[in-house]
Amino acid sequence: MDWGMKNRLSRLMPNGGKAVWLAIDHGYFLGPISKLEDPAKTIKPLIQYTDALMLTRGVLRNCIDAAIDMPFLLRVSGGNSIAGPALSNETIHTSMEEALRLNASAVAFSIYVGTEHENQTLSCLGRLVNEGQRFGMPVLAVTAVGKELEKRDARYLSLCCRIAAELGAQAVKTYYCDDFEKVVNSCPVPIVVAGGPKLATPMDALHLAQKSMHAGARGVDMGRNIWQSDDAVGMIRAIRSIVHDGSSVKEAAKLLKKG
Ligand code: 5RP
Repeated sequence: MDWGMKNRLSRLMPNGGKAVWLAIDHGYFLGPISKLEDPAKTIKPLIQYTDALMLTRGVLRNCIDAAIDMPFLLRVSGGNSIAGPALSNETIHTSMEEALRLNASAVAFSIYVGTEHENQTLSCLGRLVNEGQRFGMPVLAVTAVGKELEKRDARYLSLCCRIAAELGAQAVKTYYCDDFEKVVNSCPVPIVVAGGPKLATPMDALHLAQKSMHAGARGVDMGRNIWQSDDAVGMIRAIRSIVHDGSSVKEAAKLLKKG
């Protein structure tokens, strides 16, 4: 791996390769979802506990101060919406040139394995990896499931993560599931875990983070379970202590307001 690629990855995963990424890219297909109507306001109190942001170029240009000293993962896929017929119908909408111009530390692209757009999204991933290799830009593959949340089992996610790694992605973002070790152990590149829709309790999200780390994940790329929480700062601090300090859920929960 060349220096530029290594440097970008090490900025995204400091502290021995661990990562607390804050995902705020949801608007690219969900529009202004609850608590992310004003991204700048949402992230302001959270930024100091974040290793990197995941976002689109529109939010970056319009809502983020260019003086910010923080790496970011640029979502470059889109073309779908929650109102449309198929969430899987994504292609590359932001070029590698844009990613370089904006000083991204990685580009992120969703793949939809097993859907009618499997070939389209995997081909786009391959293309991005080719361009990323040329310019030293890491590619994060996101194993998306669209509305079919029940697809999140070890067999399916192992398939998706392994395919993403085989096609050359430098890191993969996926969902936690039972037997998650199987997913991690059969994927030769680092895995970070998405939170998914808001869980019933904050403790559920902390358990998800801890179980993911125990199974071998490098960290989280979490959104709704942090910024849709009534105690968003407490949540990100607690998640951070699990990822970076190896805290137990009980210890981490002390950082919550009601801990
Ligand atoms: C949307 C994404 C989100 O970044 C991802 O789902 C993480 O956010 P959350 O923890 O809210 O699921 O990739 O496709």
